[in-house]
Amino acid sequence: MYALFRSLLFALPPEQAHRVAMIGLDYTTSLPLLRTACRQLFCLEAPGLRRKYMGLTFANPVGLAAGFDKNGCYLDALACLGFGFIEVGTVTPRPQAGNPPPRLFRLPVDQALINRMGFNNEGVEALARRLQRWNERLQGEPRPIVGINIGKNKDTPNERAHEDYLTCFRALALWADYFTINVSSPNTPGLRELQGKEPLLRLLDAIQEVNNRLNRPKPILLKIAPDLTHDQLDEIAAVAKQAQLNGLIATNTTLSRTGLRTPSSRLEAIGAGGLSGAPLRQRATEVIRYLRQRLDQKILLIGVGGIDSPQAAQEKFQAGADLIQIYTGLIYKGPGLIRKILQGVQDNAQ
Ligand SMILES: Cc1cc2nc3c(=O)[nH]c(=O)nc-3n(C[C@H](O)[C@H](O)[C@H](O)COP(=O)(O)O)c2cc1C
Repeated sequence: MYALFRSLLFALPPEQAHRVAMIGLDYTTSLPLLRTACRQLFCLEAPGLRRKYMGLTFANPVGLAAGFDKNGCYLDALACLGFGFIEVGTVTPRPQAGNPPPRLFRLPVDQALINRMGFNNEGVEALARRLQRWNERLQGEPRPIVGINIGKNKDTPNERAHEDYLTCFRALALWADYFTINVSSPNTPGLRELQGKEPLLRLLDAIQEVNNRLNRPKPILLKIAPDLTHDQLDEIAAVAKQAQLNGLIATNTTLSRTGLRTPSSRLEAIGAGGLSGAPLRQRATEVIRYLRQRLDQKILLIGVGGIDSPQAAQEKFQAGADLIQIYTGLIYKGPGLIRKILQGVQDNAQ
C-alpha cells in the first residue's frame, strides 16, 4: 500500500512531497472514522511496550526524530501513527527561512537523504502558541510525550548562543515534556563547535541554572553528531555527568559520504548537507555503544540514525539505546514501520 503512495510522493520534489503527505495525513485524521481506522492500522498498545524514564511514561520506545514537524503543526496527525513520543523543532528564537531550496535530496539507491534545511522554522512564539492551543484542546486526554528540540538563529554568534537557547527554553518550558539541546546540525555554520567541552559546559550550565529554578525542572537531553572522535565522545560523556544531563540523543546527520552507491557526480551536484538513513546506521550504533560503556545507566540514551526495520531497531537497543527515533526510515518504508518495529520489540522481549 505504502509503495503506491511512495511512488506518487517520490514524483514530487522532496520538500513538497513532505508537505503534501502531512496535509493529507492531517486531513485524514481529522475525520473521526478515518482517525479511528488510522489508529487501528498503525498503533500498537501493550503494557510491555511502556517505558518509564526521566519521570515520564512513554507508551512505547519508538519516537519521531526532530526536523519532521519543526513547527508542531501535525501533532494530532502524528499521534495517530503510533509513536511513543514526538520531538518537535528544531526551533530558534526568531523565525528564519533556512537555506534556499533545493535543500533536501533523495538518494534512493542508498535509502538515504541529504538535507541542508538550515533550521527553517516559524520561531519560538509561533510554536509556543500552537502548543498552548493543542494542550488546552486536549484538556487531560491522553497525549504523546512531546520533546522540544531547541537551537540558535543563524546570525547569532556562538559567544551569544546561550541567550538563544535560554529564550527558547523560557518560552516553551510550560509545554515541553523534555528539551533537546541541538548543537549538532551541520547546516548552521559553526553550530557544531558548541560540542567542544568548554562552550558546551557554559551553555548547559546556563540552561540548568534557569531549569533548576522551575518548580519542576525539565529533563534536558543533548543531541550530538556522529562525526565526533572517541576523545570528543569522552568529553561529551564527562560533560553529560558534570552538567547533570538526563540523556543524550545519538545521532544527528553525518557529513561523511563514504560507502555510498549514489554516483559521485550526483553527490557533487547535490553539494553540502547532512546525510541520514541507511548509510548512517552503523556509525550511529557505534556511537551509542561507545557512550553506553562510558555513561552510567541513569543517563538515558536515545538511538537515532538509519533505523528502517525491526532488526535495525534491535541493533540500537542491543548497543545500549533505551529509546529510539526515526526519520528517514519513515520516508522510505512508510508509517507501517513503527508498528513493525514495536512487534519486533515485543517478540524480542519474549
Ligand atoms: C530533512 C531533515 C531535517 C532534519 N532537521 C533536524 C532538525 O531540525 N533538528 C535536529 O535535531 N535534527 C534534524 N534532523 C536529523 C534527524 O532528527 C535525525 O537525527 C537524522 O536524520 C538521523 O536519523 P534517520 O537516519 O532516521 O533519518 C533532520 C533530518 C532530516 C532528514
